[in-house]
Order: sequence, then structure tokens, then C-alpha cells
Amino acid sequence: MDAREMKVKAAEAALQHVEDGMRLGIGTGSTADEFVRLLAEKVADGFKVQGVPTSERTARLCVELGVPLKSLDELPELDLTVDGADELDGSLRLIKGGGGALLREKIVAAASARMIVIADESKVVETLGRFPLPIEVNPFGYKTTRIAIEKVAERHGLSGEIRLRGTEDGPFTTDGGHYIFDASFGRIPDAEALATDLNFIPGVVEHGLFINIASFAIIAGPAGARTLQ
Ligand code: 5RP
Repeated sequence: MDAREMKVKAAEAALQHVEDGMRLGIGTGSTADEFVRLLAEKVADGFKVQGVPTSERTARLCVELGVPLKSLDELPELDLTVDGADELDGSLRLIKGGGGALLREKIVAAASARMIVIADESKVVETLGRFPLPIEVNPFGYKTTRIAIEKVAERHGLSGEIRLRGTEDGPFTTDGGHYIFDASFGRIPDAEALATDLNFIPGVVEHGLFINIASFAIIAGPAGARTLQ
């Protein structure tokens, strides 16, 4: 089974949890895209859902494939969100934001009664931190915010490059108009404490540590899909 087939397997298993009439948060990324494609087939067969996309990218795919969309303000409470992750551990702590949609992803997931993570085995780690932690910041004073992030990291015994996401043409900007730092801290022994301290930094809009948000994860591997709870 190749990487794409595993994503499809996880997406198929998540679709089993989607019921007719649900208000659905729809994630961002290549795994979430597979979910959208399968969901669109069900919608074409008459299945009714109202989707709230977590990014402009996902919104475009949904529109293209005919998945009905609403804004989060039209549907402020959701039944279920299905989204991918960059990394997850055995306690369902996640790192998200590789695709740059972490702010909307977290708001939408937190507005949902349940969140299902879909991923392949390569995303499961013993301790979070192999994937650089995305930290979304306001462009105003972003260099000051970076210094504050470094100080927090130091207090946690973390070091490593904190790189502004972008290209030589300029910084990457999120759907909300913010910048992202990718922090290569390595192993994060206390993700809860780090999340709390990052939340206190003025200028940090959101970070990619999702803690106590996921309800369960569907992990696809060569032998099929398993549930992590
Ligand atoms: C986007 C995300 C994605 O869920 C994450 O990057 C996983 O993406 P993929 O399914 O392409 O590996 O957090 O902000």
C-alpha cells in the first residue's frame, strides 16, 4: 500500500462516522483532501451534510466537488471534525499546521463535539517534536515575538532553529494574514506546559500543539486501519 492508499484507507474509515445531516468541520492537507473526495461521492448520492472548511484551500476543493459549505458563524457548533495531523502521540496530542491552517483548524475542531484525526503510521511518535512545531504569529513585531518564543523554549530546555516560513519572495502568510515560525525543538517532553507558555506570548496567534482536542485517531498502515483512542 503506498502513502496515498493509506490516506484513502484512513479517510474511508472516518467517513463511517459521518451521519446524514451532520454539521461537519473539514480539515486541511493531503489526507483531509482524500476525505473530501470520498465525502463528495456520498453527497452526490444524496447524503446531506453541511461542511465548515478549515482553509481556503479546502473550501475550493469542496466547492469544486460539490460539498455544501457554511461558515463557522453560520454554524457555530459542529457535530464532528475530520482532519489530518503532522504528528501524534499515544495520548492523542497532536502537532498540526504543516499546511499552514492551524488557527482555523483549532477553532473548528474546538467547536466540534468530536474530532477524528486521520493519518498514516508514519505520523505516530513516542514523543512529539520530530516535526517542527508551527507557531502562527502576528506580522506586527514578529521579530520581538520570536525572541519571546526563544525565551520560552529556553525555559523548557528546548533549543533548535526557529525559522520563518516562506521563500526568497517573502514570508508565507496564512488565510488570516499571519506569519508562521517553524520551531525545530526536537523532543518536547512536556507539550501541555509548552502550549500554555506559548499561549501567554503577545503576538503568538496560535500554535500547532493540539491537546485534549482529538477524540480518537484512525491510523492507516500497510495492514489496514486501526483506531487510537
Ligand atoms: C494543515 C495540517 C494538516 O493536517 C497536516 O499538515 C497534515 O497534512 P497531510 O495530511 O498532507 O500530511 O495541519 O495545517
